[in-house]
Amino acid sequence: MKTTDAAVGFAKENGERFVEELKALLRIPSISTDPERAADVRRAAEFVAAELRRIGMENVRLIETSTPETVLAPSSGPAQVIPERKGHPLVYADYLHAAPAADGRPATTVLLYGHYDVQPPEPLDEWKSPPFEPMERDGDLFARGAADDKGQVWMHVKALESLFAAGGGRLPVNVRVIVEGEEEVGGEGIAAFVREHPDELRADVALVSDSEMFAPDLPTLCVGLRGMIYTEIEARGARTDLHSGMYGGAAPNPLVALAQIIAQLKDAAGHILIPHFYDRVAAPSDAELKAWKALPFDEEHYRETEVGSTVLTGEAGFSVLERTWARPTLDVHGIAGGFTGAGAKTVIPARAVAKVSIRLVPEMTPAESFALFKAYVEAICPAGITLEVRLIHSGEPIVVSTDNPYVRAATSAMRAVFGKETVFVRGGGSIPIVGDFIRELGTPALLMGFGLPDDNLHAPNEKFHLANFHRGIESIVRFLASVGA
Ligand code: BES
Ligand code: MN
Ligand code: MN
Repeated sequence: MKTTDAAVGFAKENGERFVEELKALLRIPSISTDPERAADVRRAAEFVAAELRRIGMENVRLIETSTPETVLAPSSGPAQVIPERKGHPLVYADYLHAAPAADGRPATTVLLYGHYDVQPPEPLDEWKSPPFEPMERDGDLFARGAADDKGQVWMHVKALESLFAAGGGRLPVNVRVIVEGEEEVGGEGIAAFVREHPDELRADVALVSDSEMFAPDLPTLCVGLRGMIYTEIEARGARTDLHSGMYGGAAPNPLVALAQIIAQLKDAAGHILIPHFYDRVAAPSDAELKAWKALPFDEEHYRETEVGSTVLTGEAGFSVLERTWARPTLDVHGIAGGFTGAGAKTVIPARAVAKVSIRLVPEMTPAESFALFKAYVEAICPAGITLEVRLIHSGEPIVVSTDNPYVRAATSAMRAVFGKETVFVRGGGSIPIVGDFIRELGTPALLMGFGLPDDNLHAPNEKFHLANFHRGIESIVRFLASVGA
């Protein structure tokens, strides 16, 4: 108890410095999807590693990753080989000298996970202050990655620093830290590492801070995430771009073909039209549905302030929380091809691409869902068009148990900080590696996140509410100290 109080005190005294350090991390534009930013992504990894080393963590190192070669065999035409691709490094650190329990059992090991990569900041002119120049306004820290996920990674690092300071250079619990740089692009590098080196991440529980609180001041554990398949549909028509006056009426148009295909993927009510797509969808339990009904959720407020649309869309007969947490959904992220410049150009493009993702829920699997999607898209392909349906990345849906000592340790840690009981929610987003922690490593996951619903993840003006940064650090200090006790 004494160490906990000392660590909490240290975090309070040093809170302002912690924020200044976080700003330095946020200044690094570690955009994982942009090949031009690879050096910045690495700089962010080195920044995190250097701090882990400074506070006293051991075996701190960058682990290089690569995405293995994948062979795609389309139903017609030659197989396509996507070559091995170099990935962004993982940051690893550990401290494995915690004293065994009084009864001689070995000390508990906690795996701390987060990601240091960020989403692209565009559209830039929507930002009130530049995305990589962190700015404090009214208790919020604005920057790309502030909440997703650099601010939350920094909570982990600063909780460890506080515990080291209070413990005279020792931690009360064994800790492994793994921070990835490819979460926002599918996390295939870390997935390969987990498959190939499961022993290096062996732990009793994984603490993941990359999710949100359900409402301000409401401590939250996320007990389910949707999975996803992220796909690309490439359509080809004529051999080359054509004059639309000379050939319109005779030549197939891949952009129109994509529009026709996309229009048949779901109906106006949001029901996905792929045959057998819902066969494996598992409904949440009655107890879970009842708990969701009791959450402080105002649909009108959500529509107005979070979504900012005239109506909410989606499947009839399901609440917003069910639709976003427990139902599969399909979205189109971009369509490219033909002419999109200023003015007019009369062209029938030879080629067009659409990016389409589908969120998955338990018990759907990425492999089967992609096979069903691909077969359906190929079946509805308009005449004269050849398609290639590619899987870019995927992740499994998860639900985690709420009945274990780690959940109890987390809720009492947050009770001490927030003075409130924890609510259990699911998240509509995906963190692909969490499923691998559970399935490949057999490690239960605890998703204790401190973002807020209006933190603008992936959008302009992303922010982190600084009170939650500090409360997050204190919660993690208390959690780690109590599982070590
Ligand atoms: N932190 C999010 C996921 C998240 C958001 C979980 C809110 C729970 C609540 C994560 O960084 C993310 O954005 N993931 C991507 C995954 C993808 C690119 C594989 C997503 O969900 O789109
Ligand atoms: Mn994230
Ligand atoms: Mn994200």
